[in-house]
Amino acid sequence: MTKIAILGYGTVGGGVAHVIDENADRVRASAGDDVAVKAILDLRDFPGDPHESQVTHDFRTILDDSEIRVVCETMGGVNPAYDFTKQALEAGKSVCTSNKELVAKHGPELVELAKKHQVSYLFEASVGGGIPILRTLEGALKSEKIDEIAGILNGTTNYILTQMEEEGAAFDDVLKKAQELGYAERDPSADIEGHDACRKIAILGSLMTEGYVDSEKVPTEGITKITAEDLKLARACGATVKLLGSCRQTDEGLEIMVAPFLVPTEHPLASVRGVFNAIAVHGNMLDTSMYYGRGAGRDATASAVVADVCEIVKNAGKTVPVSMTDRPSKLAPAGDTVRRFYLRTDGSGKAEILSAFSGSTEVPCEACDASAILTAPMKESSFLNILSGLAGVKNWMRVLDE
Ligand code: HSE
Repeated sequence: MTKIAILGYGTVGGGVAHVIDENADRVRASAGDDVAVKAILDLRDFPGDPHESQVTHDFRTILDDSEIRVVCETMGGVNPAYDFTKQALEAGKSVCTSNKELVAKHGPELVELAKKHQVSYLFEASVGGGIPILRTLEGALKSEKIDEIAGILNGTTNYILTQMEEEGAAFDDVLKKAQELGYAERDPSADIEGHDACRKIAILGSLMTEGYVDSEKVPTEGITKITAEDLKLARACGATVKLLGSCRQTDEGLEIMVAPFLVPTEHPLASVRGVFNAIAVHGNMLDTSMYYGRGAGRDATASAVVADVCEIVKNAGKTVPVSMTDRPSKLAPAGDTVRRFYLRTDGSGKAEILSAFSGSTEVPCEACDASAILTAPMKESSFLNILSGLAGVKNWMRVLDE
């Protein structure tokens, strides 16, 4: 029997206990041992909860309990999760987490600390919720040269963009509805400003390069400037709008960013709607494969945490390898990428825009009060240079290659 502890009995922590209770047989089959929750750390009490008696308010009782071999950190935020994780690893306990903020900030140090103490630090649930994308990269795709990963990594923003497209609604109205439905946080800035997706693509980029991508160095744009008009114009262009995290290996280094893109409707990522996530991975032999599923939610995310628990139990006494190291991954200078760009104009600046970007075309849209212009493929730095001298551009976005 392997005893585990859960740090933080909120949505994901509650889900971990639920998955372990509900799927006990499957967890045993996967881990090769029975797994049971022994302690749960939370500031609150949970009268009437089946795990009520296991709740403690003192992390020390978990740290000092030699029976507890695995700690599931589902607290979120950097502190105190960082200190608790370090102490657990130093005490010879493996840790698995859904905490993307902590992994993006201190992942290499914690992976190294786990190695030093012959335990594991795993973070499957930190990217793509229940989608087993990290294990796929570390396992099935390990012999591939992965040169590109692009994905819809945030469910809240994908829900907002989907609703804006389907209902022609304004960003603020849809955000309000998403908050009422519990899809968006009361403070939605991490989602709508792209920071959540940024941490996730930084983790994916780190694994892809077997190094470390500092999320603070990843150019990040959110979706707050997107209007219902942009979605109508995107449709006229044969595309939709998606907030993408993308990283691509180039000769100059890793080109990585988070930004809203025009995604052609025939691209597999265009059909990902609502709160779902999807991650497209390009390998040199495999070509493109795509992974789709619930990027958030209690049981889906907890399922990924429990998968890590099973991996740790199966490998007891060993460190499960993780390809994140403290070697800084070389990033390509922003601006070198060649792609097409979309511009929205209300009409007054149309002629000037069309003549400034040689090879650009206007896309007619009967249902719109604005016009879309698509440029020919060009370097981003040249695009921004020309853009800075133009009036009449209401919004612009990058276009994803088909
Ligand atoms: N707020 C995140 C999302 C939850 O909307 O995808 C999972 O990180």
